Amino acid sequence: MLTKEEALAIQAEWDRQQEVYLPCREEAASALVDLVGAPARVLDLAGGTGTLARRLLDRLPGAEVTVLDLSPALLAIAEASLPGVELVRADLGSAGWTEALPHKEYDFVLTMTAMHCFAAEPLRRLYREVRGVLAPGGVFANADRMPDAPVRTEPSDAWARWWAGIAAHPALEALVGHQNGASADFYPPVSWHVDALRAAGFAEVGTPWRRHDQAVVRAISSPGGPGTPRSSAPPA
Ligand SMILES: C[S@@+](CC[C@H](N)C(=O)[O-])C[C@H]1O[C@@H](n2cnc3c(N)ncnc32)[C@H](O)[C@@H]1O
Repeated sequence: MLTKEEALAIQAEWDRQQEVYLPCREEAASALVDLVGAPARVLDLAGGTGTLARRLLDRLPGAEVTVLDLSPALLAIAEASLPGVELVRADLGSAGWTEALPHKEYDFVLTMTAMHCFAAEPLRRLYREVRGVLAPGGVFANADRMPDAPVRTEPSDAWARWWAGIAAHPALEALVGHQNGASADFYPPVSWHVDALRAAGFAEVGTPWRRHDQAVVRAISSPGGPGTPRSSAPPA
């Protein structure tokens, strides 16, 4: 069994290894939480160990948060470190992932350091699907590297070392390596995301935060756009 203390320590190590790849990640997370502002229903897409969910709940304890991810090991860490958060294991690359959600509509769908896992066409489709789970006027925001020039990543074994470390824990060893998803390492510029979100039927697409090659792109779900049709029910 994984204790809350162990899970929090593992999550902190995760954050440290992720900062090797995304040095302003903490600032990006803060910019996402700023967008929420008041307690709301939030879906953290590809939320991993729950880094963003934890920062959200630290600031807005009344928020209702769902963390979705494919990796059972990362979700086990999120579960142990974030009691009360709803966890969903689903593959964002396959049709029907929205059916696994515990709610039909969210006020916010946030995602951090994850959309680069999807290639262009799957990401365009995912943006349409995200619009389908947002309440009218709901907000989607994606924080990631969105460089104007091709990404150059310094070689680092931080990722591999972290995974090897958690595989040594008896509660996690059986989960590691089990469907963790492969990354497309697709890092288009901000303008690509803006165009794709508009094409998915979002309105008021903007960039509330930028630092070096990292950015937050934010879009509002406008009812009646060309995206995925969805329920006309009012937000809960
Ligand atoms: C670099 S990690 C970022 C995790 C988290 N958002 C964070 O910032 O700590 C990328 C995440 O995307 C998840 N992921 C990759 N492909 C996925 C897929 N097809 N469906 C769901 N999650 C996926 C991975 O399991 C991993 O948690």
